[in-house]
Amino acid sequence: MQIPTWMTERLPDLTRNQFECWQSLLEERTGNYYSWQHRSILQAGLVRRMHELQLRNYDEYLNLINAPSSSLEWTTLVENLTVRETRFFRHFPSCDVVRNYLDTLLEHPDKRSIEAWSVGCSTGQEAWTLAMLINNKVSTLNRLVRFGVTATDISLGALAHGRKGVYKEREVSSLEPALRDKFFQKAGSGRVQVVEHLRERVCFARVNVLDLDRAPMRNMDLIFCQNLLIYFRRWRRIAIIEQLVKRLSPGGLLVLGPGEITNWQYPELEAVENDQTLAFVRRRL
Ligand SMILES: C[S@@+](CC[C@H](N)C(=O)[O-])C[C@H]1O[C@@H](n2cnc3c(N)ncnc32)[C@H](O)[C@@H]1O
Repeated sequence: MQIPTWMTERLPDLTRNQFECWQSLLEERTGNYYSWQHRSILQAGLVRRMHELQLRNYDEYLNLINAPSSSLEWTTLVENLTVRETRFFRHFPSCDVVRNYLDTLLEHPDKRSIEAWSVGCSTGQEAWTLAMLINNKVSTLNRLVRFGVTATDISLGALAHGRKGVYKEREVSSLEPALRDKFFQKAGSGRVQVVEHLRERVCFARVNVLDLDRAPMRNMDLIFCQNLLIYFRRWRRIAIIEQLVKRLSPGGLLVLGPGEITNWQYPELEAVENDQTLAFVRRRL
């Protein structure tokens, strides 16, 4: 069989002008900012999708994306461009901050429910990590404490994966055996699945962090947002963090990725003293 030439021919590099059109479109719709130095990452994502569509011209693809009926194509492009790298218990010091916070929060005998939110949850590992941490804590109490974790992302593919809760065995191989046994069951073909009683606690939903003003989350005890804002410009990171703060309950904990925002203070927040993490508690009025 003869391979069509469009499959083998290398596409030309983006010109400066083409790059700037794509750069501003992506930043406007997703917040992700590609600098000229990172254009090869943007170009690789576009080319992958353009090959599938048998398109050879960046402007033609831009017109397609800008067309009124292009929402499905836009969703597919987002799948090609988002960085989804993640893992269970990705940042141990942040997990320790969550454990300490839960200890303090649940000292109050009236505290009967916990709401947590993983913002930019990718394929779910971060949300399941929070669910495991909370489950382990509440199961030591001699009273019933309900909890729920909301997991949000812009990528529908990532959310579908997270919702299923099925992962390769090697992804959980570094977890403590007690955690693996308690929270994962064999799913065949070298895979495991999060157990049902934990799956019932986590809800996955599509939320673009640029549209947080429309998101219904309120009074969160814990908001975890790591490795998402690093792709955004500083002014936008600050605007999003301020939106997240509004969704924390008084006394709630916000955990960002270390270094995700520097030289920033917010009057409503008190920094958690731990030099390996970037976490804040919302002051009680
Ligand atoms: C590198 S992953 C981080 C995953 C996880 N938080 C962690 O630290 O392991 C970044 C995630 O942010 C998501 N993302 C990118 N832009 C977004 C936006 N505007 N709104 C919501 N999620 C977004 C991507 O789809 C991706 O799943």
